[in-house]
Amino acid sequence: MDLYEHQARQLFQDHGIPVPRAEVTRSPKEAREIARRLGGRAVVKAQVKTGGRGKAGGVRLVADPAAAELTARQMLGTAINGHRVRTLMLAEPVDIAEEFYVSYVLDRASGGFLAIACAQGGVDIEEVAAHHPQAVARIPVDRAEGVTSTKAGEIASAAGLPPRTADVLVRLWQVLVAEDALLVEVNPLVRTAQGHVLALDGKVTLDDNARFRQARWGDEDTEQRDPLETEAAARGLHYVKLDGEVGIIGNGAGLVMSTLDVVAGCGARPADFLDIGGGASAEVMADALSVVLADPAVRSVLVNVFGGITACDTVADGILAAVDRVRPTKPLVVRLDGNNAARGRAILDARAHPLVEQAATMDGAARRAAELAHTA
Ligand SMILES: Nc1ncnc2c1ncn2[C@@H]1O[C@H](COP(=O)(O)OP(=O)(O)O)[C@@H](O)[C@H]1O
Ligand SMILES: [Mg+2]
Repeated sequence: MDLYEHQARQLFQDHGIPVPRAEVTRSPKEAREIARRLGGRAVVKAQVKTGGRGKAGGVRLVADPAAAELTARQMLGTAINGHRVRTLMLAEPVDIAEEFYVSYVLDRASGGFLAIACAQGGVDIEEVAAHHPQAVARIPVDRAEGVTSTKAGEIASAAGLPPRTADVLVRLWQVLVAEDALLVEVNPLVRTAQGHVLALDGKVTLDDNARFRQARWGDEDTEQRDPLETEAAARGLHYVKLDGEVGIIGNGAGLVMSTLDVVAGCGARPADFLDIGGGASAEVMADALSVVLADPAVRSVLVNVFGGITACDTVADGILAAVDRVRPTKPLVVRLDGNNAARGRAILDARAHPLVEQAATMDGAARRAAELAHTA
């Protein structure tokens, strides 16, 4: 789960990283009051979980409280890069001398953490990284050793950051560890004209697997989540919405992952990842089908089940009960294998539902589902 900037700012502050004074609001009137408390001038910042807010008009400097109220009124309710603005943060304006980029991120390619730092931070960091990759230092961080002040000094000097940023680098690592984060990013980390080092923007991605011990964030993320994913989660399904047209339902994460690959190999695009897990009861299958079919982009559905503890005849009964409950209008291709596969196939054959066909192999099923998606 990604945090909002104001939540990241709070974490930074909790861990002793200097941040500008700031307050959060949803009301233009209150924005005026906040600007007054901040000394009149303020930076009004849309709280949306997307980068590039500055370039999209979501970060604006205002000269006085009246301008803060007006800007807040204009900004609230608009969309920044497709994200509706419901909350604003007003921050104290800082006199920036230099902008840096720093982050720690779990690097899945190397199976470890990386420190990424650059002396040319700010809103153009992507261009800097694309055109001057040598300006971006990438330094592995050992998870057990962490970022000591020696290590922080190494990172700072590799990226050409002033030595006084080392303290922030150490504390930022503490944020990552204490908060179970997969990413902590500060862009920009600034040196002010007065010589202070401050974190002006923050992005933190928490590890969802650690949610049980980071309970304070709750489930507030749902307002930003895909509505189908929210519904699937409420029904206890492991569903991830993707961009394609072939709906996928399978049992076991490994089987579902390989089903996505095989469908892609047939020239179609999977519309989702949906793992119904071990218990493929009629109810679970019906829930799965209704979630997958609720995606308007879906043109065919591939059900790929390998019977184990749940035998294929039970799954076949589940599919038919689900079809009766959900009444699909798009074709289903079913591949059953494993425990009691023959009985499962016989149950589907006997019913001969016009929208349900079977395939003997996973490759055959994927080919057929792809074909149906392109002709349906
Ligand atoms: N409190 C602040 N004082 C002065 N300038 C700021 C402040 N906050 C942001 N900025 C400026 O606005 C730019 C964009 O803001 P930022 O919070 O990084 O949003 P985003 O990364 O989404 O564009 C920053 O690089 C910085 O130059
Ligand atoms: Mg930024």
